[in-house]
Amino acid sequence: MLPKNVTIVEVGARDGLQNERRAVPTADKIHFIDLLSETGLRWIEATSFVSPKAIPQLADAAEVFSRIRKAPGVRYPVLVPNLKGYERAHDCGVDAIAVFTAASEAFTRRNINMTIEESIATFAGVVRRAKDDGLWVRGYISTAFGSPFGDVVTALTVRDVCVRLVELGCDELSIGDTIGVGVPSQVEELVPLVARAISLDRIAFHFHDTRGTALANVYAALQHGVHIFDSSAGGLGGCPYAPGATGNVGTEDVLYMLHGMSIETGVDLTKVRAASRFIRNVIDHELTSKAFQALEATTV
Ligand code: HMG
Ligand code: MG
Repeated sequence: MLPKNVTIVEVGARDGLQNERRAVPTADKIHFIDLLSETGLRWIEATSFVSPKAIPQLADAAEVFSRIRKAPGVRYPVLVPNLKGYERAHDCGVDAIAVFTAASEAFTRRNINMTIEESIATFAGVVRRAKDDGLWVRGYISTAFGSPFGDVVTALTVRDVCVRLVELGCDELSIGDTIGVGVPSQVEELVPLVARAISLDRIAFHFHDTRGTALANVYAALQHGVHIFDSSAGGLGGCPYAPGATGNVGTEDVLYMLHGMSIETGVDLTKVRAASRFIRNVIDHELTSKAFQALEATTV
């Protein structure tokens, strides 16, 4: 049942750097993405065209996107929360965007100051524009395994939000465990439910590793045929509007596990490690990816 090939969507430059306390210089963000472009990754989320008041860390989105080296065959999606963000991104020449809502009302309100229904209405306009302009669109469903604010999230709600986003015209969905509370039995319940409505060729999973369950969740999803996973170099990541959320599952950890299981990704682990090393020296704190740490401890 396990897929032979997996697509990795690298989110470290966006999910990771949005959550760093210290501002990362624009030139270092660009160099980090340029290093990631040499690894074999085909999807590198570059930045977000959100309100700079909401996420000051990514206020330089236009400069970052314009100056990164666009490697052939690599796509660089950016997050867009509304038409204003779309205009800014479109002016820079992006060809892939991601809109983002959630399965928790409380989180959606904190994160984008909308209800889920309002977010769908906002994204209807954004996705229509993007499709008219020939762009590729991803839709995120955050807090799919639990909310940081205590409101109950059910698998049926997640499925329903997924269906709404596909109806808007999203090409791919990413189902997110924003605060890293999910366990494999939840994945085993959710994947078949979503797969009855939407092809798994269009579904990614996005696990944060706050409680150490992310890699187990990746494995559970793999067993049900999921073959697109988000991860971040070194395990960077977190959402400033999700209290307590820590990094995404590390790209090195996912690559180590998949390659060990003879599942191909086309991504060079040692080159991802080089990118992680570079950004670690910029942000000046340790990275959480276990495979990265092990490589650092045992090889030059
Ligand atoms: P709001 O305050 O309700 O919006 O925020 P507003 O329309 O009233 O605008 C407020 C100000 O922001 C105005 O400026 C706007 O012009 C400006 P002012 O008149 O006060 O000077 N503004 C913008 N500026 C630049 N670009 C824009 C933009 N929009 C408004 N696009 C809003 C609503 C959605 C804008 C805000 O809440 C926002 O930007 N939120 C983004 C939060 C975010 O990026 N969170 C992290 C990403 S989600 C995540 O990490 C989860 C994920 O990884 C998956 C997972 O883990 O589950 C994807
Ligand atoms: Mg995230």
